[in-house]
Formats: sequence, C-alpha cells, structure tokens
Amino acid sequence: MTSDRSQMIRVDQAGEYGATRIYAGQMAVLGTDHAISGTVAHMAAQEERHRRLFDKLMAERGVRPTLLQPFWDVAGFALGAATALIGPKAAMACTAAIETEIDAHYAEQLRELDAAPPSEADPELRKMIAEFQAEEVEHRATALAAGAEQAPAYPLLAGAIRLGCRFAIAMSKRI
Ligand SMILES: [Fe+2]
Ligand SMILES: [Fe+2]
Repeated sequence: MTSDRSQMIRVDQAGEYGATRIYAGQMAVLGTDHAISGTVAHMAAQEERHRRLFDKLMAERGVRPTLLQPFWDVAGFALGAATALIGPKAAMACTAAIETEIDAHYAEQLRELDAAPPSEADPELRKMIAEFQAEEVEHRATALAAGAEQAPAYPLLAGAIRLGCRFAIAMSKRI
C-alpha cells in the first residue's frame, strides 16, 4: 500500500475518533434530557460507526494510528464540552463548522482516489469515504437547521473551530 494511502486512513481515523470525543464532551454537558440530546446522540452513534470501521481498516492494513491520539482525546472532549457549555446553538455551531471542513477533506480524498491509476484503485476505502461524507453533510444540515448560525459570535466561533480542524487534519497526516 502506498504511503499516501496509509496517511489517508490515519487522518480519517483520527478525525472520526476526534468526532466521537467532541460528541462525548457535548453529551457530558447536555445530559440525556436536553432538547438536543437525541439529535446529538444520533450523530454520535454514526461517528462511533465511522471510527469503528476505520479502526478495522487500520488493523487490516497495518496502518499505525496518529501519535496525537491522546491529545485529540482531550482536545475533542474539551471542544465539545466548551461549546455545549456556551449553549445548544454553540454546540450545533461546532458541528456545522467541523463538518464543513470534513466534507471538504473527504471530497479532496475522493478526488485523489479517483485520480489514481487503476492499479492503485481502492474501492473499499472509496466506498467508506463516500458513505461517511454523505453522513457528515447530513450532520451539518441538521446543525444548521437546529440554529447553529444563531450561536453567540457565530462567525468567530465557527472560524476558530474550522481553523483548529484544518490544523488537526494537517498534524494527523504527518505525526
Ligand atoms: Fe464521521
Ligand atoms: Fe459527523
């Protein structure tokens, strides 16, 4: 397997892992009977599945996880908890911002996979990415419908989270 393929799987597993930690942080603050608890729990369950399937692919192909995993564990949880503490709309703003970046990230990977020569085609990985991307786009739509853009200081908050997300992607590819 080419090293760029390992890198792809590594960063995707890191991202899905981070997503589960963000939702865990949000759920820790929101509890189970908040108005948006069900919505968050549903998205969290989808992220758990994304992560589990990338864990499996990683093990099958002998790809090592990012060394930053312990950091994303804490940073993801903190981001989720902090946004939920600001309020439910800020929690949704966090999801909308993250999923905007993840959608772009997965789109870029799909372009890369489609540009590879037939001998390097990877239908298994391609199918996973395309399916997960569709769910991330759904998460963004759900978050926007739930009032993400009405969060306090939305442009600032969303901009900072998107920047952090791009940073996380860049780091998890390399380290
Ligand atoms: Fe995901
Ligand atoms: Fe998602």
